[in-house]
Amino acid sequence: MSLISKSIVTLIALMLIIILGFVLSRLGRPYNQLIFNVHKIIALVLVVYSFIYIKKQLVTVEPGRIIVVVLVLILICIVALFATGAMLSIGKVSQVLLKRIHLSSTIVLVVSIVIFLVELIHKLKNT
Ligand code: HEM
Repeated sequence: MSLISKSIVTLIALMLIIILGFVLSRLGRPYNQLIFNVHKIIALVLVVYSFIYIKKQLVTVEPGRIIVVVLVLILICIVALFATGAMLSIGKVSQVLLKRIHLSSTIVLVVSIVIFLVELIHKLKNT
């Protein structure tokens, strides 16, 4: 699969996670277990798959400053999303704050992934 196809699959998976997240949020508590698990599992698969792929790519491409910065942002967002997602499902800490962090991390994550993919495609074209 080419990098463009992989990028499209990644963005579709991300959109699916986000749509399921909004559905989950709309339906409210107690969370629909099927939607919650699919939301969580697609996120986990995407993270594992992306980690393996990015590690492989960074061997062949010299990462510039932009790639390093967005990778750090992506990592922070993923940790924040999994931590707040888990806390939301347990339901003990302030829900409003957790939801805000979960949503803002999603926005930063999407923007960072798009910048990362554009940079990577650009770098691979020039090598
Ligand atoms: C790539 C990772 C993820 C993304 C992009 C993502 C994105 C989203 C979005 C956009 C929402 C809707 C938020 C709102 O309406 O304000 C949502 C809701 C939710 N997500 Fe995630 N999520 C991710 C991972 C996870 C994980 C790993 C868990 C659980 C461990 C989780 C648990 C939840 C829960 C419980 C809600 C419902 C919150 C509510 O009641 O409003 N999410 N997610």
